[in-house]
Amino acid sequence: MAQFTGKVAVITGSTRGIGRATAEALVRGGGKVVVSSRRSDAVAETAHALSEAGPGEAIGHVCDVREPDVCHELMDVAVERFGGLDILVNNAGLGRFAKIQDMDQETWDIQIQTNLDGVFHCSRAAIPHLMARGGGWIFNIGSLAGRNAFSGGVAYNASKWGLLGMSEAMMLDLRHEGIRVSCIMPGSVNTHFFEDGPDPEDDWKLQSQDIARVMTDLLAFPDRALPSKVEIRPSQPPRK
Ligand SMILES: NC(=O)c1ccc[n+]([C@@H]2O[C@H](COP(=O)([O-])OP(=O)(O)OC[C@H]3O[C@@H](n4cnc5c(N)ncnc54)[C@H](OP(=O)(O)O)[C@@H]3O)[C@@H](O)[C@H]2O)c1
Repeated sequence: MAQFTGKVAVITGSTRGIGRATAEALVRGGGKVVVSSRRSDAVAETAHALSEAGPGEAIGHVCDVREPDVCHELMDVAVERFGGLDILVNNAGLGRFAKIQDMDQETWDIQIQTNLDGVFHCSRAAIPHLMARGGGWIFNIGSLAGRNAFSGGVAYNASKWGLLGMSEAMMLDLRHEGIRVSCIMPGSVNTHFFEDGPDPEDDWKLQSQDIARVMTDLLAFPDRALPSKVEIRPSQPPRK
């Protein structure tokens, strides 16, 4: 039996980058995954490509994590189609960098509402379903920017710092319910997160598959063990 046979996951922001690589890894291991993002064409393409590759299955549902009702819909789709929910990956996120004196309200709002409020909406929607299965796992994709500030990171640092605190509180709230909560904190990953997109020259950076691997490896931990915070960084970044 494949490693994730019988497991159902919802992954937010899974049409590219870390979210997509995680969805691919779970489907490759026989899991059933609901992929999502704000763009219907990308969602449909991703679900189709993953199901084609198999042996697990993927379906798609458009979800902007800033919208609480749609987050509830996303979890309901997983339960209706696949019979339950075991894993939520709160991955959807973005970074818009500007100094505080140059940051407008809209740029602040989109980061806080996506990177932080979105995790609240999706987790609230998923928890009853995870409990109905007797437990599960919530992965919150944080960042090393959640504990290392940099100029221009005022909103991104705030969102990921907040997410780290939120993850720890969630972990304490949920562990006796059988739900494990882990905050995964990557350094630089070569994805479309950066405006110029992935750069083949940046071969020192982490790849999305490395972050997916952290999660699939954690899922193999025994029930008694809860790695609640994992930092992962490039082993050989350019020397400063
Ligand atoms: N790349 C890095 O160096 C790095 C480092 C540390 C942490 N992270 C974190 O890793 C996560 C994934 O980033 P990535 O590097 O894989 O970036 P990416 O390639 O840009 O992927 C981001 C995904 O999130 C989706 N998304 C953005 N806003 C959304 C919203 N409001 N609702 C739903 N989906 C939304 C995007 O799709 P649409 O735009 O089509 O909605 C896309 O599928 C983020 O939380 C990021 O902060 C990244």
